[in-house]
Amino acid sequence: MKFLVFILIMLSFVACKESEFKTGRYFAGGVYAPAEKLNLGKSVYTEYCMACHGVEGDGNGVAAKGLIPPPRNFKKGIYKFGKVIAGELPHDMHMVHIIQNGLNGSAMFPWDISDDQADAVWQYIKTFSPETWDGKDKALGEELFAKNDPFGLARKSYAIEKGKEVYHVTAQCQSCHRAYVPKQELSDITYKLEGERIASDEFDEDLYKVKLQDSDHDYRTLPPDFTWHWVRSASTVQDIYVRLLSGVNGSGMPSWKDTITDEEIWAVSYYVKSLMELKDSQEREVFMKKIETKNKVFEANGYRD
Ligand code: HEC
Ligand code: HEC
Repeated sequence: MKFLVFILIMLSFVACKESEFKTGRYFAGGVYAPAEKLNLGKSVYTEYCMACHGVEGDGNGVAAKGLIPPPRNFKKGIYKFGKVIAGELPHDMHMVHIIQNGLNGSAMFPWDISDDQADAVWQYIKTFSPETWDGKDKALGEELFAKNDPFGLARKSYAIEKGKEVYHVTAQCQSCHRAYVPKQELSDITYKLEGERIASDEFDEDLYKVKLQDSDHDYRTLPPDFTWHWVRSASTVQDIYVRLLSGVNGSGMPSWKDTITDEEIWAVSYYVKSLMELKDSQEREVFMKKIETKNKVFEANGYRD
């Protein structure tokens, strides 16, 4: 028995020793992670992260079963919430921020670890996807900021109204998310912006449903209903603005940076924030009922065109 215990201890010692980092690594953006940091990162990972993200970093940890959304598969090197255009490599500070502050409404909680530990574990996570990170000459994406808000608090209600039009007409966010205006109003604002109405038989039958999207992750991604689901990476108008500039990498949610104007992105950020404020409130029910009632009137009395 004693001998068996001795063998087991020796084996685990060998196993640990073998997987220890002996040399540092150079990562994209010229970041150097010395061996001690990677080893610290590994021990933090084993203690706090492995249960969900898995021994191999593939997102299949013992506690990952049934989680929606599932934990990130780090082997793919695709991160959703960096503050860079979707597809580009994120900066350390933003990923460390996510690790310490979590993602709203998901199993990715804010982890109470020190700045050193958070940075070390993020460097270690990079080692799951060497083809993404190895090589100090690889460039990171350009960092995105929320600056030059053309509206500000003084013109907030104007921004929300304009944002509603951008959302439903210019950008057609409801093609993945859902609409938040009755059909008559949708036709009216389409006419206002484009000079053409929507024929009464041309409304999308899934106008008020969120539509699952194919993705580069291991599952189909859900465009949130902003009045119901959590927005994971954003709480303020500024956060939403950065998310719209960036998109959600690998998920089907595109970057809007060069698709609509900067002012339109700001306006739609104010609008999305106003929808988020309805979450878990009595007003949400009233708001939804109003859309339903107006659509019933539209169906019964015919359509103004
Ligand atoms: C209880 C389960 C759980 C644990 C434990 C956990 N995570 Fe996560 N993590 C998640 C889930 C779920 C997501 C995906 C959220 C999403 O897709 O919106 C995630 C996403 C991430 C992301 C990706 C962010 C992005 O922009 O794509 C990183 C990085 C991350 N976790 C790091 C960590 C680190 C570091 C730890 C340990 C300190 C940890 N996680 C512990 C569940 C967990
Ligand atoms: C082609 C489909 C598609 C279109 C069009 C689209 N989205 Fe998304 N959006 C998604 C998906 C999918 C997600 C969920 C990403 C995830 O968490 O995996 C998402 C997530 C979001 C989020 C939440 C990000 C977070 O931090 O959780 C916001 C905000 C958002 N979209 C706003 C918009 C706005 C505003 C528009 C129009 C300007 C828009 N989206 C158009 C597919 C789309």
